[in-house]
Amino acid sequence: MITTQCIWKNGVLIPWQAAQIHVLTHGLHYGSAVFEGIRFYKTDKGSAIFKLKEHIQRFFYSAKQLGMQIPYNETQICQAIVETLQKSGCEEGYIRPLAFYGYGNMKVVPTADLPVEIIIACWPWKDYLSAPVVDVAISPFIRIHPQSTVADAKISGHYVNSILAGLAIQNTHYHEVLLLDAEGFVAEGSAENIFIVKNNRILTTPKGTILMGITRETVMQIAKDLNLVVEEKRFKPEEIYSAEEAFFSGTAVEITAIRSLDGQVIAQGNIGIITESIKTRYQKIVHGQVPAFHSALTWIEKEEVMTV
Ligand SMILES: Cc1ncc(COP(=O)(O)O)c(C=O)c1O
Repeated sequence: MITTQCIWKNGVLIPWQAAQIHVLTHGLHYGSAVFEGIRFYKTDKGSAIFKLKEHIQRFFYSAKQLGMQIPYNETQICQAIVETLQKSGCEEGYIRPLAFYGYGNMKVVPTADLPVEIIIACWPWKDYLSAPVVDVAISPFIRIHPQSTVADAKISGHYVNSILAGLAIQNTHYHEVLLLDAEGFVAEGSAENIFIVKNNRILTTPKGTILMGITRETVMQIAKDLNLVVEEKRFKPEEIYSAEEAFFSGTAVEITAIRSLDGQVIAQGNIGIITESIKTRYQKIVHGQVPAFHSALTWIEKEEVMTV
């Protein structure tokens, strides 16, 4: 992977290669960790982080579900992220804050004496999916059930569900998987939410089985600005086959059009007009070209990069 100068670990910026942990770290064994995926972009006024506050609010929400006391407040974590970007020497890319139960006790249920450790890393990361318009397969694995876990928390252990779903399409022509819920309704992709367009109305899966995506929320704001109606309503895969357009949203994938589902091409198999207009506006917003969204950006003042 592409490395940068430093990683923030428990309050201190250290060289990238020095950011190590003990093999008996609780989070490594049981997935008892929470994380965020945030993007920052080059703009005319320097680099800017998109929706930092919202991501850090979700980070703390996820930690709370695991009974995890993060030894910093939201403002301090935001400041630490800004400092990590400034010292990393990276102008555009991806930010990964992670909080995990550390080393000290191997009981499954974390005990009060177990330390909570925090790291923040950033690195350049361009396209997450390997094509701009993707072929998708329905996974035989259903999305984690809301009665088995807190499905809207970004808990590391949840991602085994995404990993198993994704492994099944490795070495096939599919670019991504779609997970259904226990009743056969569409939940989401392995790392992204889904939208479809039918009769010029936009549908997306409601709260319940999904991660409440920050990009999903941005798509809904954009749609409103473009006078498009978005309904949060459950739908089955059959509705995707007959949709006019379908697309994924997520910090990593941004807005990515879906060409086909289980081999059935959706409409003409191209990026549709509505998807294209939402994607274009999204790119303008994150690159600081839409003044109405400037408050969603945290601009980074340039500082001297850390030398290692
Ligand atoms: C399972 C899952 N769903 C949806 C999303 C999209 O969320 P966001 O738009 O906040 O990145 C992600 C990405 O973090 C994800 O991992």
